[in-house]
Amino acid sequence: GDHAAASGPLRTHAADRGKVIGTALATGPLASDATYRSLAATEFNQVTPENALKWDATEPNRGQFSFAGADAILASAAQNNQVVRGHTLVWHNQTPGWVQNLAAADLRTATQNHISTVVGRYRGRIAYWDVVNEAFADNGTLRNSFWLQKLGAGYIADAFRWARAADPSAKLYYNDYNIEGVGAKSDATYNLVRDLRAQGVPIDGVGLQAHLILGQVPASLQQNIARFAALGVDVAITELDIRMPTPATPERLAQQATDYRRVLDACLAVARCVGVTVWGFSDRHSWIPSVFPGQGAALPYDENYRPKPAYDAIHAAFGGGAPGPTTPGPTTAAPDRQPPTAPGQPTASALTAGGVQLSWPAATDNVRVAGYTVFRENGASDVQVATATGTTAAVAGLSPQTRYQFYVRARDAAGNSSADSPLVTVTTPAGAAAAACRVAYAVPSQWAGGFNGSVTISNPGATAIAGWTLRWAFTGGQTVQSAWGGTATQSGSQVSVTNADWTRVIAPGGAVTFGFSGTFAGSNPAPTAFTLNGAACQ
Ligand code: XIL
Repeated sequence: GDHAAASGPLRTHAADRGKVIGTALATGPLASDATYRSLAATEFNQVTPENALKWDATEPNRGQFSFAGADAILASAAQNNQVVRGHTLVWHNQTPGWVQNLAAADLRTATQNHISTVVGRYRGRIAYWDVVNEAFADNGTLRNSFWLQKLGAGYIADAFRWARAADPSAKLYYNDYNIEGVGAKSDATYNLVRDLRAQGVPIDGVGLQAHLILGQVPASLQQNIARFAALGVDVAITELDIRMPTPATPERLAQQATDYRRVLDACLAVARCVGVTVWGFSDRHSWIPSVFPGQGAALPYDENYRPKPAYDAIHAAFGGGAPGPTTPGPTTAAPDRQPPTAPGQPTASALTAGGVQLSWPAATDNVRVAGYTVFRENGASDVQVATATGTTAAVAGLSPQTRYQFYVRARDAAGNSSADSPLVTVTTPAGAAAAACRVAYAVPSQWAGGFNGSVTISNPGATAIAGWTLRWAFTGGQTVQSAWGGTATQSGSQVSVTNADWTRVIAPGGAVTFGFSGTFAGSNPAPTAFTLNGAACQ
């Protein structure tokens, strides 16, 4: 791509590869720390509540559910077009004493109720669930937890069945640590997954936590991911961090970058590895120092939110090239107070009665341009109309035959804003009779026998579309395997995708995107016709 694309945020390049780049999110800094909020939104396309969906947070007392923390993260994710990974339902940690003290029959009832209530509440909004977490001991025997002692080994299959019943569209995962490489514990996990699948238990994926030690990425990581994938399940790196003795030194940071790159490359090499989630993104908010004394600096941004070599390594692994100029400096440098330069003269294209596409020459920054905000000139009260991570934005919601002026501001990761770009002036044409919908179908990635599809539905009309089903026919024998941002069903060549909760409303002039993975044989022709709620699209 061009330079602008080459210096885009992680989520742009991950999406180009059809992969997830996620982060754990903590409710505290999400509420109080604007830089944390902004980087989480800009860089990641998936979030995992770090603690807010654990049992002690969601059902601290029997039958008394509390969802405030999880709801805050879900709201932020919806606003930022991020997929949510739910963590976790059945675990021996962070489960309240009242649960652990129940007698067997009661524990079973309470667990079913917990799973039904929590998964059911977020049905259609949480795409992946870590249903069971850390059920094995390091030697590969089942962990001797209260779950095992009271319910027997069958608690694992039960939990998956209850979760499936509560949200048939969620991908259900088993998640654990020290199963990244081939070994006794990952062998045991492999056998469990194989047996569950043979028994028809609904398990869709395996999460490798990957709380790793500097210089110790298992050599068999890729091979291990591939063998799980060969069982017919997806694999995700779910909690990546790579800790080092503190303080960080340039040598350690370089080794850490190499380690991050190895993990990313291993996942990218296996089609069924859906992506990588880091367990927090900044060393300012990481669980490591409190749990592993003397260790830390485990994440891709430092404590002052400056990208580390590990960030550049992730960026490069996704094929993003060099992430743009960075100023190497002492790791304890003062906070960045230098704003980016003003973006160049914007130009308009694709002008319609209801919208316009704007492009502008990139700004530069002493660290890195994190994104742009587009404003409509409106006297004393200019209106923000779009944000962008690259150097283009679509502005929607315009009226026909109206003159508009826009300008663009750049911002960096530390929150510094540039001066305004020059104005661009456009006058919208008269409106034509609008079609009901427009569909853009793309195949962002394809490999032997499989591909990722991305479908954007635009609403050119003047009223919101609230709830939709999009239908098309494949002409090359393709099949949809799984979808995100919508629920897909297929009968013969006929595919039908219905909105997820967070893609339900398509505003006038707005658009939603959903994606899917599919299979094909021979060529992979794009469908030629789409209907939305029964009406033909352009
Ligand atoms: C950790 C959180 O990061 C901490 O904030 C919390 O105090 C303890 O739990 N494996 C898991 C995660 O599955 O839930 C853990 O998260 C880290 C290890």
